[in-house]
Amino acid sequence: MTTTNNSAPLYNFGAGPACLPQAVLAQIREDIPNWYEGMSIMEISHRLPVVMKLTEKIEANLRTLLAIPEEFAVLFMHGGARTQFSAVPLNLLNGAAEADYIVTGHWSNLALKDASAYCKAECVASTSEGQFTSLPSHYRFTEASPYIHYTDNETIHGVEFATPPEADKWLVSDMTSNILTKSLDFSRYGLIYASAQKNLGIAGITVVIVRKSLLGKAHPFTPPTLNYELCFQNHSMINTPPVFSWYVLGLVVDWALQMGGLTAITKQVAEKAKLLYELIDASDFYHNPVAIEARSRINIPFRLPSEMQESLFLAEAEKNGLKQLKGHKVVGGCRASFYNAMPIEGVKALVDFMRYFEKAHG
Ligand SMILES: Cc1ncc(COP(=O)(O)O)c(C=O)c1O
Repeated sequence: MTTTNNSAPLYNFGAGPACLPQAVLAQIREDIPNWYEGMSIMEISHRLPVVMKLTEKIEANLRTLLAIPEEFAVLFMHGGARTQFSAVPLNLLNGAAEADYIVTGHWSNLALKDASAYCKAECVASTSEGQFTSLPSHYRFTEASPYIHYTDNETIHGVEFATPPEADKWLVSDMTSNILTKSLDFSRYGLIYASAQKNLGIAGITVVIVRKSLLGKAHPFTPPTLNYELCFQNHSMINTPPVFSWYVLGLVVDWALQMGGLTAITKQVAEKAKLLYELIDASDFYHNPVAIEARSRINIPFRLPSEMQESLFLAEAEKNGLKQLKGHKVVGGCRASFYNAMPIEGVKALVDFMRYFEKAHG
């Protein structure tokens, strides 16, 4: 939380790039002028032992936080989650002609489209008919697919899997918008990826957690920077890494550990979501279209009775220090994102404002 011009608190509900923890921002301010021998971390070689040590520590802390088993490699890659839409089939198809994709919203649909350049990407379940407001009830998995791709939390449509889909193959999951919000059963996964600018820091770096047994099978055309095996062998430094984004990720992971780790975070995530859903469900003015069992705890879209009221709502919210509540252009309306850096006070301020607005304009 920072403050507005009239010193009222300011809360940023943007879906990403998203708010950072205040403690992380303060540490960045302190570190920027002089992180190592009078230079900032942005100005020194990534090969320096001090940087190598930092990246090792970040991996160790991330492993502790998520309880990542030894049989998984942790890679720090370029290109955002979108690049993983290509990197996954390039690395994991291993000669297979098709791969299974579950489509529950904008991002999983795009993952399927991007994968179609490399194989027959099979849509094994889709909730598009219901405008992506639910989760699939069944899947038509193919025999030949080496993995099943799904998006654990659809950032735009506000749809989240409470438990991973049942399947007898390795799951590959895009967790860009809900990583670090719950503990994971790694025995179900072949690979998990998340770009950093929502819950892991800032854009520029993507965490890829991949089963070591799946390494070394990349298509020969795979660019070296997208080759998981090469990244693993080269400690994610196959070329100049995005050092600053990596360092910020380290600060966020430290902060999450200090918050009490995943047990404390999961509890807070649930509390924050409950506050807003309770208000929406008790109101005839606000509406969330997603089936209750499919609702995201992190990205909560909501509509008002008319677009005019939505515009007024967004303008007044901005004036009150409640920033970036506009819904994605694909769905319109409003959306509140509650990443870990959003304090519960921010959610309470939003809920209070929504109550006031309904009274004034409902
Ligand atoms: C679930 C999900 N997947 C993928 C992406 C694309 O991420 P990036 O911009 O890092 O490529 C986003 C971006 O918002 C997202 O929310």
